[in-house]
Amino acid sequence: MAEAQGNREPAAQDFHSYANPAAVRVRHLDLDWDVLFDQKILKGTAVLTVDRISPTQPLILDTRDLNIEKVETSLDGVNYSPATFTIGSSDKILGASMTIPLPAKANRVRIHYSTAPGASGLQWLEPTQTAGKKDPFVFTQSEAIHARSWIPLQDTPQVRVTYTARVRTPRQLLAVMSAENLSGPARDGDYSFRMRQPIPSYLIALAVGDLRFKALGSRTGVYAEPPVIDLAAKELSDTEKMVVTTERLYGPYRWGRYDILVLPPSFPYGGMENPRLTFATPTILAGDKSLVSLVAHELAHSWSGNLVTNATWSDFWLNEGFTVYLERRILEAVYGHAREEMEAALGLRDLNEDLATLPDPDEILHIDLKGRDPDEGSTDIPYEKGALFLRHLEETFGRARFDRFLRSYFNHFAFQSITTEQFVAYLKLNLLSKNPTLAERVPVDEWLNKPGIPASAPKPVSPAFARVEEQAMRWLRREVTAEKIPTAKWTTQEWLHFLKFVQDQVSKGFVGDRIVLSVPPGTAPPAARMEELDKAFHLTRSGNSEIAFQWLLMSIRNRYEPASPRLEEFLLSIGRRKFIKPLYEELAKTPQGKERALRIYARARPTYHPIAVASIDEVLKWKS
Ligand code: BES
Ligand code: ZN
Repeated sequence: MAEAQGNREPAAQDFHSYANPAAVRVRHLDLDWDVLFDQKILKGTAVLTVDRISPTQPLILDTRDLNIEKVETSLDGVNYSPATFTIGSSDKILGASMTIPLPAKANRVRIHYSTAPGASGLQWLEPTQTAGKKDPFVFTQSEAIHARSWIPLQDTPQVRVTYTARVRTPRQLLAVMSAENLSGPARDGDYSFRMRQPIPSYLIALAVGDLRFKALGSRTGVYAEPPVIDLAAKELSDTEKMVVTTERLYGPYRWGRYDILVLPPSFPYGGMENPRLTFATPTILAGDKSLVSLVAHELAHSWSGNLVTNATWSDFWLNEGFTVYLERRILEAVYGHAREEMEAALGLRDLNEDLATLPDPDEILHIDLKGRDPDEGSTDIPYEKGALFLRHLEETFGRARFDRFLRSYFNHFAFQSITTEQFVAYLKLNLLSKNPTLAERVPVDEWLNKPGIPASAPKPVSPAFARVEEQAMRWLRREVTAEKIPTAKWTTQEWLHFLKFVQDQVSKGFVGDRIVLSVPPGTAPPAARMEELDKAFHLTRSGNSEIAFQWLLMSIRNRYEPASPRLEEFLLSIGRRKFIKPLYEELAKTPQGKERALRIYARARPTYHPIAVASIDEVLKWKS
């Protein structure tokens, strides 16, 4: 149970941290590093300012593979005295605890340390892995529990800190952080930052490279390497509009600037909502703004996640479910209802795929992650099931009432980290109990604590997708040839639905009441039908990463060989886990495929991020 602590934060049990914030709580960090590309390390100091809630207790921090040189403590932040510390045994998932006994009244701890070249939260890129090919690049990825691999801290989302940082880099490179830049526009290899709002550790972020900046609006902009900056600025030109839209829906944007950093292609995620500076994969740069839902998503986290934060990784759906719901609301306001419903339908489809394969306990929103790596809890459950739950509340109570509820929720819990129980209590008090008859229609406990989705769950309706399905069926039944399918006005979302729908039908082996795609003599094998589509639509060469991914997945499944070189090129040039993991999994389903996967992976592995490497090693049972 939460204990009264003389401050507002209750202590929720976080199985993914050794820290003891109920006894000693870190409030502020002053960071100082040299970025040493030749050694692939950060080297410097972290000064932690702490609150002594239980005055005799030591400070316990999270670390992973850090090289600690020396620790000092201070009562005044000026005079430091040497201190002792002990490092606990290292756990594969959690890393190692670091215990620092504190003298009476000491409230500052200075740690001199360096990171390991293989730190799980850092990726060091050779110039060849960048767009510019001339300079090295480094970036962090702290969520879920990788901040501890580059900063010794209390790595639990229920501890919020403010921070300052000073970063020294090679002169020609620019450093950016999830913070205000205090050094002005000068590129001199010496940069200072300040984050004045308290944030959880997983939102601390740094990147260093040959970066350029282009303004998008008065408080929005984009950073990218020189060869990418113009394309990025064009693609992301709706960003300011999205910020304005979200403010209208959910209240003021509280972080000052909203910039986006477009990273090199090895970035393991689509996006990461680092405050003031979203990190994004370059694979969203499709040329037609068709994949900018990712910006809506990461921007939405400025309310759901960064302002109101999950207290533990079991409450992750509070971050991601809310954010997918907000993302769809932003899309609807900026690009219209039809587009939003297409995205919702694609999301529901992905959710149903997960529900068909996940074990029951993993289908629960308020998930038990004890003993597990929180990175592996990233299924569509917290995202899509969470969003569907909120949509159910919206549909039941009406949009106006639900919007008011969400606005007050974000204000009430602003800059706090909360548990699912706290959300439920707030929901009951401010929405359910005020409308008891309507409340009966929403099975809250079933949504949060049971597998599957309730029978009364909302169903997105996309007439555009219904038309796509009709066309697909006609083609599958050979009533029309591929060129005759009226695709001219199809959006990326319609293409994705077409391909997934066709694959579903192929997998079933049935179309209507006839078997058309099985392989008995006289019927064309799936590969021939793939070829037909490819000839008509050049899908193997699609420059849209989502379409290319879906096509390549189908190519493996249906043994469509002409796509092989493109598959190899894709796996060797892109490190986004959402794309590469399913492709390796699909390859690994047959012996020849597995062999091919291992051959490609042997070359690709050194270019992948440590987080992606951990996942693919697991898929291919790779022993290094
Ligand atoms: N916060 C997540 C990324 C994340 C989650 C990193 C868990 C580490 C652990 C981010 O907001 C996200 O959800 N990204 C998605 C894209 C989004 C459009 C669904 C991604 O990277 O695929
Ligand atoms: Zn997210």
